[in-house]
Amino acid sequence: MNPSVLPLAARADMLVGSVIDSSTSLLQKQTHDIVRFAMGSPAAEAIPTDVFAAILPEALGTGAAAAYDYGATEGDPPLRDALLQMLEGTTDETTADRLFITAGGMQGLDLCCKLFVDPGDLVVVESPTYTNGSATALSYGAELLEVPVDDDGMVVDALAELVERAGRKPTVIYAIPTFQNPSGATMSLSRRGRLLELARQWGSVVIDDDPYGMLRFSGDDLPSLRELGAGDPLVFSVRTFSKIVAPGLRVGWVDAAPELHRLLVNAKQAMDTCTNLPAQRLLTAFLNGGHLEEHLKTQREQYRTRKIAMQDSLTEHFGDIARWTDPEGGFFLWVTLNNGVRTSELFEVALAEGVAFIPGPAFSPGGHFDDALRLCFASTRPERTTEGIARLRRAVDRIAEAPSRG
Ligand SMILES: Cc1ncc(COP(=O)(O)O)c(C=O)c1O
Repeated sequence: MNPSVLPLAARADMLVGSVIDSSTSLLQKQTHDIVRFAMGSPAAEAIPTDVFAAILPEALGTGAAAAYDYGATEGDPPLRDALLQMLEGTTDETTADRLFITAGGMQGLDLCCKLFVDPGDLVVVESPTYTNGSATALSYGAELLEVPVDDDGMVVDALAELVERAGRKPTVIYAIPTFQNPSGATMSLSRRGRLLELARQWGSVVIDDDPYGMLRFSGDDLPSLRELGAGDPLVFSVRTFSKIVAPGLRVGWVDAAPELHRLLVNAKQAMDTCTNLPAQRLLTAFLNGGHLEEHLKTQREQYRTRKIAMQDSLTEHFGDIARWTDPEGGFFLWVTLNNGVRTSELFEVALAEGVAFIPGPAFSPGGHFDDALRLCFASTRPERTTEGIARLRRAVDRIAEAPSRG
């Protein structure tokens, strides 16, 4: 049945589909061998399944039904304690009254938009940006303003100019300051400071979305927006265990002004009441057992190796027709083609050739970046990466040499 015959709320029109999710569904239907650079997931072998199996019985308490009950909306107290400890001494160190457990980073983004975005409000997003983040703002009726990103993250001078031109202040500025999805760029310290200055001047909430910051494999940590904001009620930080431990657990957290706590509880109760308790208990045991540090050490080293393998393969196969980023952590390379091939057109040809990526326009509400694509280097072993990049080049050549292109 066509849903338009149903008495849908106006809001339903604001729910935009994610190209990432539709690409994933398309991918799941394929039966031939595909090198998968599309999803931003940790490698299958990076999920600490052996540790989980060992700690699970105790974590969930054999025979104890309590781990399967409803939990506290703001998060299971033992996880909140373990998390506070985990963050001690990091650039995200915080206090219990600011911490709120969520169902992944996505719920943090949703809660923030639910509390701050009214239909018609101006929300700044990076260009390119994380699609599901911009889609969340759109679902609350935001009008989006795209601000360019370069190697030093969001171009904050351009932000000031674009806001001036828009003639109104943004309600929310959505930033992914570290190892940005999709570009891999990290916002420089001076831009972080300037962004906070502008936000204060305008009274805009800054969403500081940082799922990848703990996956730094070279260079030095920068102070987070959260740390630089030092308790500024305008800074709303969104974090997740999805990239550092496992996305299927669906556990994340936000770090926000204590004054927001009651509103967050009310908003979350109207969504899902509480975060999956068994997953929180498992994470608590993982953190309290001291497993995270070793796990991250291994992952960072592996991701560094995988990034280099991908860049080496790109140099071999794409040196003449593309340039790409060089992130110091995270999951992604952003590749820009200079031979006129449109990556939205490339997607299906590449899939047939046996390689998957996400086309650039998926990361821009205005559909820009048809000359670019996102590759996740984190989830593929170096040998497979080499094969995948060779397949990608064959796909590009098939399009570039197609007779219809003249
Ligand atoms: C920048 C960014 N924010 C938020 C999320 C969502 O995280 P989660 O899977 O924990 O909901 C992702 C996941 O890809 C992401 O890359």
